[in-house]
Amino acid sequence: MKDNDRFILDIKRLGINGEGIGFYNRMAIFVPNAIPGEGHDIEITSVKGNMAFGKSLEIKNISKDRKVPECPYYGNCGGCNTMHISYEKMLEEKRNLLIEAINRYTKINPKKFEIFQTIGSANQFNYRNRSQLQVRKYEDGLHVCMLKENSNITVPINDCLVQKNIINDINEKIIEIMEKMGFDAYNHKNKNGNIRYITIRANKKNEALVCLVCYKKNDNIKNLAIEINKIPEVKGVYESINSNIKENTILGETINHLVGEEYIIEEIGKIKYQIYPNTFFQLNSEQAEELFNRVLKVCKLSRKETVLDAYCGVGAIGLFLAKMSKEVIGIENNKDSIECANKNAQLNKINNASFYHGDASILLPKMLNEGKQFDVIVVDPPRTGLSDKFMKALLESNVKRIVYVSCNPSTLAKNLEVLSSKYNINSITPLDLFPQTSNVECVCQLVLKN
Ligand SMILES: C[S@@+](CC[C@H](N)C(=O)[O-])C[C@H]1O[C@@H](n2cnc3c(N)ncnc32)[C@H](O)[C@@H]1O
Repeated sequence: MKDNDRFILDIKRLGINGEGIGFYNRMAIFVPNAIPGEGHDIEITSVKGNMAFGKSLEIKNISKDRKVPECPYYGNCGGCNTMHISYEKMLEEKRNLLIEAINRYTKINPKKFEIFQTIGSANQFNYRNRSQLQVRKYEDGLHVCMLKENSNITVPINDCLVQKNIINDINEKIIEIMEKMGFDAYNHKNKNGNIRYITIRANKKNEALVCLVCYKKNDNIKNLAIEINKIPEVKGVYESINSNIKENTILGETINHLVGEEYIIEEIGKIKYQIYPNTFFQLNSEQAEELFNRVLKVCKLSRKETVLDAYCGVGAIGLFLAKMSKEVIGIENNKDSIECANKNAQLNKINNASFYHGDASILLPKMLNEGKQFDVIVVDPPRTGLSDKFMKALLESNVKRIVYVSCNPSTLAKNLEVLSSKYNINSITPLDLFPQTSNVECVCQLVLKN
């Protein structure tokens, strides 16, 4: 196969980035904007090893699950990747992505345990409670922008359909204020301007916290913050200095509070959480409650258990489980998140939960060596999954139940292959925390073999 080859391809399944996948002489061909069940007249755009990439020239039989994307930026902004597929079909496909990962990376038979239907999100749009957008100057003025997929090309965004409306409104108002006060976007080419990003976090009550990410310190920034804080929903404003333009990190190493409240509070179920600009928090607050309830259910707690919440962030899951546990211990490597987790325990008057700062791969073996015993271990690692060192300690702990919360089916599957030497998988529940995208969240319940 070579570039520009053209043929009809039957799309067999969905890939992890929302593209359709078909096979030609056993070679997998990835075609953006193609839906399983469709046939596409495609042209090969590149061939890499035993994979090829193609573009669709014409759809030969249109899937009944195809819909017109609701967003004018779709396909251009690098954000959503499944807005052309009906929601019901996507819930099915998210479950299929999980099964596909298990088949691909493990010898585990996915028919031997329950894989529930994907739990859908009540909000399919306007659910994201955080935005982190680049500020750019165009001929017609300043804009907040996203990056086109796999590129440095900025795309001005006026109204993102998956962000909360209040976040879109605040971004627009901040841009107006910046223009009025003569603040410019940072321009790397001529080193003009200073503001690189605007980050916003909002809660279900539509209260928001803003952080202005600047290239360098600017004495005047406080005046801008004071004006931004006059937007009724904005409760506080921070700045963060980030002069590193080589890496894609958005916030600088520290954040400085400039004006207003230092945090906003989000409520999930009956638990209140302080939200800061730089600590982890679930991006879809409404659906986070479904997720935490699912975790609570599969933990099977009876108020007698000592629970470890590994990779605990601001203690979100641990505090949610505390009432049904004897004791909760959380570990997390972000110092600000751990401080926040302990404050969250106080805020909720929860006194059977404590949170420790450190690398989970070091702290878990240390705690076990010191004789600490857990009845349930909940893990919620980043996309990279669990390290070998952490899994070794987990296997040696002999804990009866493990609840694995995962945002990446591939690393979940690879980790399950190792853990299944000692644990049976009882069930996996896929959940949709990110509608209009191919991301899948999973809650997996593992039980120690007899
Ligand atoms: C997916 S988040 C989960 C947070 C939390 N469970 C929640 O629901 O809000 C993963 C967390 O793991 C933390 N983390 C990443 N690597 C870690 C490590 N090696 N040890 C401990 N925590 C880590 C991150 O800072 C982040 O807060």
